[in-house]
Amino acid sequence: MIPKDCKRLAEVDFPIAEVSKHAAREKSIRHGHPSTLHLWWARRPLASSRAVLLALLWPDPCDPLCPAEFKAQARKLLPQVGGCNPGTTDQDLRKALLRFIADFANWDNAAERTHLEVSRALVKAAHGPAGGGDGYEPPLVVDPFAGGGSIPLEALRLGCEAFASDLNPVACLILKVMLEDIPRHGPKLAEDLRRVGAEIKRQAEKELADLYPKDPDGATPIAYLWARTVRCESPNCGAEIPLVRSFWLCKKAKRKRALKHRVERPAGEPPRVEFEVFEPKSDKDVPAGTVARAKATCVACGAVLPPERVRAHLAAQRGGADVVFDAKGRRTGGARMLAVVTLRPGEPGRHYRLPTERDYEAVRSAQARLAKILDEWEHGGRRGLCAVADEPLPAIGTLGFRVQRYGMLQWGDLFTARQKVALCDLQQRAKKSSQESALLGELLAQTLSHVLERNSALSRWRPQPYMETVEGIFGRQALPVVWDFAEAVPLSSSTGSFEHSLGVVVNCVAGTGALVGGQAQVQLADATNHTLPDDAAGVWFTDPPYYDAIPYADLSDFFFVWLKRAMPDHPLMHDPFDAANPLTPKQREAVQDETKRDDGRPKDRAWFEETMARAFAEGRRVLHEDGVGAVVFAHKTTEGWEALLSGMIRGGWTMTGSWPIATEMGSRLRARESAALATSVHLICRTRPDNAEVGDWAGVLRELPRRVGDWMERLQGEGVRGADLVFACIGPALEIFSRYAKVETADGREVALAEYLEKVWEVVGRSALAQVLGTAEAKARNGAAGAVEEDARLTALFLWTLQSTNVEAQDSVSEEGDDEEPSDEDHDEAGSSRGKAKGFTLVFDVVRRFAQPLGIELPKWEGRVIEIKKGVVRLLPIAERAKQLFGEDGAQAVAARLEQEVTAGRPMQLTFFPDKEPGAAPAIRGRGRIRGTRGNVDVSDESLAAAREATTLDRVHAAMLLQAGGRTNALRALLQAEQERGPEFLRLANAFSALYPKGSEEKRLIDAMLLAVPR
Ligand SMILES: C[S@@+](CC[C@H](N)C(=O)[O-])C[C@H]1O[C@@H](n2cnc3c(N)ncnc32)[C@H](O)[C@@H]1O
Ligand SMILES: [Zn+2]
Repeated sequence: MIPKDCKRLAEVDFPIAEVSKHAAREKSIRHGHPSTLHLWWARRPLASSRAVLLALLWPDPCDPLCPAEFKAQARKLLPQVGGCNPGTTDQDLRKALLRFIADFANWDNAAERTHLEVSRALVKAAHGPAGGGDGYEPPLVVDPFAGGGSIPLEALRLGCEAFASDLNPVACLILKVMLEDIPRHGPKLAEDLRRVGAEIKRQAEKELADLYPKDPDGATPIAYLWARTVRCESPNCGAEIPLVRSFWLCKKAKRKRALKHRVERPAGEPPRVEFEVFEPKSDKDVPAGTVARAKATCVACGAVLPPERVRAHLAAQRGGADVVFDAKGRRTGGARMLAVVTLRPGEPGRHYRLPTERDYEAVRSAQARLAKILDEWEHGGRRGLCAVADEPLPAIGTLGFRVQRYGMLQWGDLFTARQKVALCDLQQRAKKSSQESALLGELLAQTLSHVLERNSALSRWRPQPYMETVEGIFGRQALPVVWDFAEAVPLSSSTGSFEHSLGVVVNCVAGTGALVGGQAQVQLADATNHTLPDDAAGVWFTDPPYYDAIPYADLSDFFFVWLKRAMPDHPLMHDPFDAANPLTPKQREAVQDETKRDDGRPKDRAWFEETMARAFAEGRRVLHEDGVGAVVFAHKTTEGWEALLSGMIRGGWTMTGSWPIATEMGSRLRARESAALATSVHLICRTRPDNAEVGDWAGVLRELPRRVGDWMERLQGEGVRGADLVFACIGPALEIFSRYAKVETADGREVALAEYLEKVWEVVGRSALAQVLGTAEAKARNGAAGAVEEDARLTALFLWTLQSTNVEAQDSVSEEGDDEEPSDEDHDEAGSSRGKAKGFTLVFDVVRRFAQPLGIELPKWEGRVIEIKKGVVRLLPIAERAKQLFGEDGAQAVAARLEQEVTAGRPMQLTFFPDKEPGAAPAIRGRGRIRGTRGNVDVSDESLAAAREATTLDRVHAAMLLQAGGRTNALRALLQAEQERGPEFLRLANAFSALYPKGSEEKRLIDAMLLAVPR
């Protein structure tokens, strides 16, 4: 046993960079990986879960209380693993243990025998009875927010026992299959599933074949590509507008395919759009999409239908995924088939053809078949559940859900008629099997979910060369509207088919069983009210919901409504807290979303904080007093963090370590969202003793800067940067504060966590500034002599925060990252700022936290240095500052140069910088637009007039603009004047050169400008 006061490895050191590399790489591993069993949103990588768990389970060999048995075994066993030389000292041994943890984080080693044996033996040596006697009880690892189960699965791998619970039935089903069924029944289960699945496929084929006819020439369709349609409302037009985001079909280098259209204008009828499949040479040949930001453009007349009309048209068609036929079976509206993807016997690759009458006939039969299914249910007195999911979608405005406004109001509305028929058939067959064997029923449910993922009218066709398949519905943790969608053929063998889905699950089952050592127990439970007895756990390690990031319960209903029909008798397929609820439990879900209520109370920040506090208090109760805890958290706002941390402290925990681990792949994130984080912070914690001391505020404040400073240095060495670094500093800061029962000022006032965190942000911001601009600037408040002005500090801090964490290992998907398009959701948001305006952006909340304590007043710089919109702060690109700095003419001259036009003539800029007396800053012509006069900051005309003196930042930007404008003479004159003036200009310019993101226009300009500085 490890004595209570003996530190665990995770409380002293951790191989951050190595584990980060493996964790980020893991996302690109698919075949047989446990995460492929069933989709769950924001799964944690197994690599980081495994590494942190080992570091929690193993004691630090340098601690005098470290069990001798553990050290002896470690010295004996570690040499079996290459590169883990335990040396002779305790320090060497610690290094070797960390080396092993890093090595074992590699997916390639995760099932390797030596690694498994050594890790389990050392867990046993640490937790077995003293002297290595009999009666070893493996430690119990508890995760009450277990989700897709990364943490408990790794606990089993290390030979521990695991208790995994979650509020969500879909999550619990995944957990049960992965942690209980598969380990218990071994490889035979994969065989049984393969057999039963093959039989289901055979039967479904018989039943459904006529809905998916083969082509007369023997080709087999694998997907139908559709567009929802609306009618042009411009007078004298009335053409049907197929809503298509992109006309690309295939981007493979040697077989590029796309659609182009022409307009036929038959007399007396509205114009008609006709399509043709062709081979484009490049992007330019492919026509632009007809829909962007929910605005539709008519191909026939060019008129634009605004978003509200597009919504109205689609709402009238209940989403518009189905074709409308007249009595004679002719298509009159609704969804339009654009192309059919086929495979041809003996020919490689996918082929694309236009749809035919036969294709529509099959759709019409499917509609008739669906009508029959629904009729029978109606006439049978609506007994039992309707075969097609008729449960309501969450209310309009629910986080992440955009489809309701387009008339999709029930879960069944997300599917075409043919998809519904096929899904009903598969669901019925799964149900029959589940009545024969509950175990196989659970595995078939996983298979059905895979089919669902790619068989809705919200799945896209991906033309990318490495894909050319139907994409899953949850590319993001949301349900945005999709205009043109791909209907997979579930009877084929391609992605999205039953056969393919079955293969994925079989592989996963076969691969996962072998990894498992210990025993698991799974339960549907609320983390705030747990069933485990007191002191049961050796490790309490969890990954709670990230504030407002993911609406798990709402999203999971997409699967739940079908799974509960496939397994009506399954104990997990009901809301145990509310028998009347046909969907997954919502009321107790821990998520910040004010549109949701718990007992009439909106789920606001205070509610989230309280819920976390209750969950942590439960964890404290369940954890043995010698035990250790860990919490994973990643959120891009300080608000999310504060809610979690206050929950932890109120729940009676103290932090003893913290490790940021990169879990996302950098380039993909950056392509999507500026403020996304690459790392999740793993906070290591212990239960706070009831008799903890009262801390002294002054002492706490004295300790803070040193800890944060040391920590920042270490993390930067490990490649952690920017916003990731900011949040990673919370750990050590909280180690100081959370030691105490409470912290008091000299006059006995209790200091709230929020007040402390303000200090933390300040210290982090100051340390960052000191790093990039030097200490004087970091200390400077407004007007401090000799220091760089406010706008430069703001810009420096902004760019520093923007830096992103290095994550190597992203090769396999970088191509996809490059291709990342903004989602339809963004398009849907008319007037959304994302993806349109240029410039770097950060979350407002983060910028504000830094700015305030450093004496930077954000409203003052709006329109001059930054722009604030919808909770996002954008740093104005220097091109947008040109007018501000030079006035009308200069801006034009600069713009002209940016457009690569050669400008001739006298360097007129010099007249705008009449820098006659050294030391006097040149005045700037004109001034920026000042938007919004928030707070009580003075933005009156007087104050602006006073602020019109050019700052160092202005002058650096002006120099960059002159560089951009090719005004060599003017630039030289300016640089010379600056050299005479003093060192500030160059210091700032050099700092920015280090801060501007690589590859950015700004970086290129400032470096070129610096080259022009006379030496
Ligand atoms: C961040 S996820 C866990 C992900 C998991 N670590 C993985 O790798 O897949 C958080 C989980 O908390 C669950 N949850 C939310 N509120 C809960 C509550 N009150 N009790 C238990 N679980 C809850 C959600 O269903 C979700 O699965
Ligand atoms: Zn028109």
